[in-house]
Amino acid sequence: MSDKGLFISFEGIDGSGKSTQARLLADHLRDAGRDVVLTREPGGSPGAEEIRALVLQGDPDRWSAETEILLFTAARRDHLERTIQPALNAGKVVICDRFADSTRMYQGLSRGDLRGTVDALHDLMIGVEPDLTVLIDMDPKEGLSRAKGRQGSEERFEDFGESLQAAMRTGFLNLAEEFAARYVTINGARDINDVAADVSAAVMPHLP
Ligand code: ADP
Ligand code: TYD
Repeated sequence: MSDKGLFISFEGIDGSGKSTQARLLADHLRDAGRDVVLTREPGGSPGAEEIRALVLQGDPDRWSAETEILLFTAARRDHLERTIQPALNAGKVVICDRFADSTRMYQGLSRGDLRGTVDALHDLMIGVEPDLTVLIDMDPKEGLSRAKGRQGSEERFEDFGESLQAAMRTGFLNLAEEFAARYVTINGARDINDVAADVSAAVMPHLP
């Protein structure tokens, strides 16, 4: 996506360990002297963080899937303009906890087949993919119990339950095949440091 920087996303179901692994990778790369921007979606810029509160809090049926596609894409556009693109242009490594593949899954699959709508809006308004996507793969039961253990207020999607998380897991594994050139899949059901070692080994060869 950029000649200079490197754009890495983390994907996977809720509680799979994305945030933990994104942070550990950022620490590792900073220790190695790299300039790293660690960011997340929805959010990552002031405007997008405001949209985050709208989409992640409240009743599971607060928004239709179609409205969510618009809200997540609006947040992503702001995040891209103000945070991601400037960092890549400056030659930094951008590590993003979720990106457009999450919309392909959560809005594209959870309430009927809206994948075509997600992709059409993505092409129109975003138009970029990460250079590398790390899928932290995990059994939904374990992921959900980890996620629920956090006791936060951003639980709209966790409240959709285990069957949705199971569909998301399968969906992410299918995406990893569809976008095989940029995907690496890592087993997240292991000790944190073992997962982190595999993530680092997968990322290092891609550094500019
Ligand atoms: P995600 O960002 O995918 O939702 P988190 O990184 O927030 O996942 O992890 C969810 C919870 O599980 C956190 O409490 C975290 O400390 C814990 N956790 C993360 N990775 C592991 C692991 N490999 N083994 C056990 N617990 C983990
Ligand atoms: P996140 O904070 O990464 O949650 P978790 O740490 O539990 O994985 O993301 C919050 C929720 O937002 C998550 O349930 C997935 C959902 N989401 C979408 O539905 N669409 C999107 O485009 C994105 C980026 C996230």
